[in-house]
Amino acid sequence: LQRVDLLLVGFGHVGRRFASLLEESREPLAALGIGPRVVGIVTRRHGAKFVSAGLDAASAARIVTDGGVIGSAPTPSALELIARWRPDAAAARVLVETTPLDVRSGEPAVSHIRAAFAAGADVVTANKGPIACAYRTLSDEAARTGRQLRFEGAVMDGIPIFNLVREAMPAATIAGFRGVVNSTTNFLIDAMERGEPFDDALARMQAAGVAEADPALDVDGWDAAAKVAAMANVWFDARITPSDVVRESVTAATGERARAARAAGRRLKVVAQARRVVPRERSESRESAVEAAVRLEELPADDPLAILDGQANALEIDSWPLGRVVITQRDGGLEKTAYALLSDLVNVVSR
Ligand SMILES: NC(=O)c1ccc[n+]([C@@H]2O[C@H](COP(=O)([O-])OP(=O)(O)OC[C@H]3O[C@@H](n4cnc5c(N)ncnc54)[C@H](OP(=O)(O)O)[C@@H]3O)[C@@H](O)[C@H]2O)c1
Repeated sequence: LQRVDLLLVGFGHVGRRFASLLEESREPLAALGIGPRVVGIVTRRHGAKFVSAGLDAASAARIVTDGGVIGSAPTPSALELIARWRPDAAAARVLVETTPLDVRSGEPAVSHIRAAFAAGADVVTANKGPIACAYRTLSDEAARTGRQLRFEGAVMDGIPIFNLVREAMPAATIAGFRGVVNSTTNFLIDAMERGEPFDDALARMQAAGVAEADPALDVDGWDAAAKVAAMANVWFDARITPSDVVRESVTAATGERARAARAAGRRLKVVAQARRVVPRERSESRESAVEAAVRLEELPADDPLAILDGQANALEIDSWPLGRVVITQRDGGLEKTAYALLSDLVNVVSR
């Protein structure tokens, strides 16, 4: 078995589910020749632990879930632990980054990723912040240091959109994309369309752990804008950040628009989209070469985005020569995001 040492930076909902999925997937991973082992865990308020021979992630998860602290004081920061993480000729090393989203800077994830490359480790992340804010810098640095960066969980949980384009659409040109990529707002509009008040529907999404802790990230379009920026940066080399994406908010007043649309046989949706407006080679200013927005749109009832109910997501990728390709996620959730990290891990190690 190829031994793979993992340093988990961030051990919240996604990090802990990833650790348990790793255990559940021992057999299929072994069949692929991969033997992962968690050597370190870092949190912000729940301590940190590093054991080069491997540690028990399940018991660490129990401690953190119960509000306890792992490791002994003083708690080292992620950057300190990464810097101390020595190469091991017998093992591949992968940093699993799942710290919270920051839409303005992509930090602290950007610094964690750069430190991992400098230390000779590859990175998989479910955090869209670094891809939305600093993809070009990070991919240049990965190339320079000979490291890999994978981020399938950043958009649409585990549904393989980045892998789809990278692996199955070589040499195709992506002209644009449009999608429903924020589960909370799709659920809110759906609920208001049926007459449920905005605050009640939002409270239900927060109770279910689907809405971000700060609901503005969802209802003001920041989460979707970060996803648009991430996809545009990866597929168009757009070099934008979430602030460059035009946004429209979902409010209590959106309910009336949604009901009026429905009465007219249409559906109101938050459509996250970007398009190249000037072919790359003819654009003088890179910024003006891409139009990116998160907008409320009334869609014809048969539009593939109009039929999405509740927390479903879908993305339509407009490509040459394949035309419009639609990929739908019908069942979202933590397990899927954890799987995205697992599939990234396999891909990184297999290369
Ligand atoms: N939840 C989902 O369904 C989902 C889906 C797709 C993508 N994502 C993305 O995945 C990431 C993680 O989400 P989550 O739901 O797991 O968040 P979470 O439950 O809030 O967990 C975040 C973790 O990061 C730790 N952390 C924060 N700042 C840190 C720092 N500077 N150094 C080291 N650790 C730090 C936190 O530690 P403390 O708890 O001690 O503060 C916690 O363990 C986010 O970027 C999110 O956008 C989440």
